[in-house]
Amino acid sequence: MPEKIRVMIVDDVAETREQLRKLISFDPDIEVVAMVGSGEEAVTIAPKALPDVVLMDINLPGMDGITATGEIVDIMPTVQVVMLSVQGESDYMRRAMMAGARDFLTKPPSADDLLNTIHRTYKLRQKMGTGQLTPGGAPGGQAPVEQRPAQQGKILTVFSPKGGTGCTTIAVNLAIALQTLLGADARICLIDANLQFGDVSIFLKLQATRTLTDLAPHAQDLDSNLLRTVIATHSSGIRVLAAPVTPEEAEMFQDAGVEEGGSNRAMKAILEFAQKEFDYLIIDTARHIDDIVLAALDINDLLLVLTRPIIPDIRGARMFIELLQKLEYPMEHVDLVINNVDNKRMGIQPEAIERAMMPAIAHIPLDERTALRAANYGEPFILKDNRTPIAQAVIDLAKKLHNRFAQRAEEKAAAEEETQRNVGLGRLL
Ligand SMILES: Nc1ncnc2c1ncn2[C@@H]1O[C@H](COP(=O)(O)OP(=O)(O)OP(=O)(O)O)[C@@H](O)[C@H]1O
Ligand SMILES: [Mg+2]
Repeated sequence: MPEKIRVMIVDDVAETREQLRKLISFDPDIEVVAMVGSGEEAVTIAPKALPDVVLMDINLPGMDGITATGEIVDIMPTVQVVMLSVQGESDYMRRAMMAGARDFLTKPPSADDLLNTIHRTYKLRQKMGTGQLTPGGAPGGQAPVEQRPAQQGKILTVFSPKGGTGCTTIAVNLAIALQTLLGADARICLIDANLQFGDVSIFLKLQATRTLTDLAPHAQDLDSNLLRTVIATHSSGIRVLAAPVTPEEAEMFQDAGVEEGGSNRAMKAILEFAQKEFDYLIIDTARHIDDIVLAALDINDLLLVLTRPIIPDIRGARMFIELLQKLEYPMEHVDLVINNVDNKRMGIQPEAIERAMMPAIAHIPLDERTALRAANYGEPFILKDNRTPIAQAVIDLAKKLHNRFAQRAEEKAAAEEETQRNVGLGRLL
């Protein structure tokens, strides 16, 4: 007999909990494994009750539903949280989504809506497997999450129009966080597309004997073997395509010319090929919007725009985002990351930056000591100091990004299934 879907109900009103339980009892494939009345209880009980899906009330006294969601998803990343709220709480919704909530229901939900949502989110969990990222865990030590994309990997580009914002720091640590999250089987490649002054190798204390320069002349007829000989492996398991050793070598990329839209032909071809070989490509970039960055943006799945909470950076990021909008770049492929967030000192608060621009997917705390030490010793903090808030923020970001891609894949598969069904019906009729 197939296992039932395990559901935990979190609501401070006993009557609501009971109503939800009754609705669920109509479905023989779902069982309620816990009912609790507060966010705090939810966080303690979840690891014991091991629910697949949590129905979480957004407004709870004490620890609210959003915070509880964040905490649960932190320790049990594959748990699917469905947020319940009364109508008109759209601002909360966004925050809840950022905390890791998977779906939403308006209170009181109809039986159909409730049961469909539980089934849908549960399916998503199955796609994600059961891998969990435990703080302090060794890289590659977790059970691999069943996440291998069918054909093409996802491309994440990290960019900032200003220099020194933290692009390399985030790209390097994010790549390793994804490797840790997804397990040793996942294929993660970090590409240093800062062709003139790339320093990914330094951040990773990696002596890459071959670099992107070796690929440029063969960009149009790449094969897996050639790619493999150029790619270096870091001890964390991530693969690295290093930047040219000298700034002059970057010229090699100019020989192939640019496409009509301005993208560098060689770089685009390399990225397109690598996309088929890896689950994730993380691209670190230089600060200029040039043909290399345009090549990445052309096939990018998600662009992370970095800013620090200082006026020149914010202004630069804002102008860049406005430029993307003018160019009608798909904004669902763009996210903001605020680095160097410092709550203690007087500075511009992240919320104010978000209001001026767009919601941020991550706030990475300022931690000069950890970041500097990591850069100087070539030991990414995600490995060396992974309990620090800065590392935890990057781990969170990795989880959110991966969950988002899993969700998109799920939606795409559902849409395709629907189309197939319609085609089938069409034939019958
Ligand atoms: N959250 C942070 N807290 C403190 N220092 C940080 C943080 N993030 C990055 N740094 C430090 O800021 C400096 C610049 O970071 P990094 O090299 O990653 O930026 P970049 O955007 O890649 O710069 P470049 O324009 O040179 O490529 C480094 O010394 C790094 O250690
Ligand atoms: Mg850099």
